[in-house]
Amino acid sequence: MHIHTTIASLREARAVAGCVALVPTMGNLHDGHLALMRAARQQVDTVIASIFVNRLQFGQGEDFDQYPRTFEADGEQLAAAGVDHLFAPNEAEMYPQPQRYHVEPDPEIADILEGAFRPGHFRGVATVVLKLFNIVRPEVALFGKKDYQQLIVLKNMVSELALPIEIIALDTVRAVDGLAQSSRNGYLSTAERAEAPRLYRQLTAVAEAVRNGARDFSRIEAAALSELERHGWMPDYLTVRRRADLQAPKDTGEPLVVLAAARLGMTRLIDNVEV
Ligand code: PAF
Repeated sequence: MHIHTTIASLREARAVAGCVALVPTMGNLHDGHLALMRAARQQVDTVIASIFVNRLQFGQGEDFDQYPRTFEADGEQLAAAGVDHLFAPNEAEMYPQPQRYHVEPDPEIADILEGAFRPGHFRGVATVVLKLFNIVRPEVALFGKKDYQQLIVLKNMVSELALPIEIIALDTVRAVDGLAQSSRNGYLSTAERAEAPRLYRQLTAVAEAVRNGARDFSRIEAAALSELERHGWMPDYLTVRRRADLQAPKDTGEPLVVLAAARLGMTRLIDNVEV
């Protein structure tokens, strides 16, 4: 695997790479990332992964400084997963001057749920992903469904800006007890790690109730939220939404997803389950 720290070097390699898949990451790789790399390997001639901890998508008081940086271990895992090129710019390469041009996603999707609790988060995500797309010019890009809202924001960006890129979404990879793989799981204490799968269990219970015909969403959401609170969680939201645009459901028969974010101790976890 070739490692590129400059845009120029990555572009030189890309020019002779044929059909390219990009898997953007912030490093601290887990099985969810590696599943994306392996899926990419099946699709194209050349797999390019990126590792860049993007300051623009972290709010004030969030974990930008603490975000785990595990470059050596990540590199070994990427090489073993068959990745051809790793683009790992430093901040000076990616943002040589303050980024003054940004992608402003539609507030209807970007300012709700995660966006309501992390103002500007999706502006930062969309800006760095568009920049990575412009640097790498991939035919295909892969993202996990764990960050469901991010996926919708990026799909809409690709569609509205007519980017010639196919977005492939992969199911969330979970531990055997159901906890979604996340770089932030490493922040959990032993006791919190044992408690953490409750989030997935509550999401699954709500999804199951909806699948079985429940339509009183507020009541089942409230029951799940209070169950989390009873076990020491501080939930930000747990809500049933339409998959397509994450707005509240209107008609029966619309594909739905249940999404949640909740704090366990100092760690904020997000997860979702499609109905
Ligand atoms: O999902 C992530 O790890 C990040 O939000 C992404 C897409 C790499 C952009 O920084």
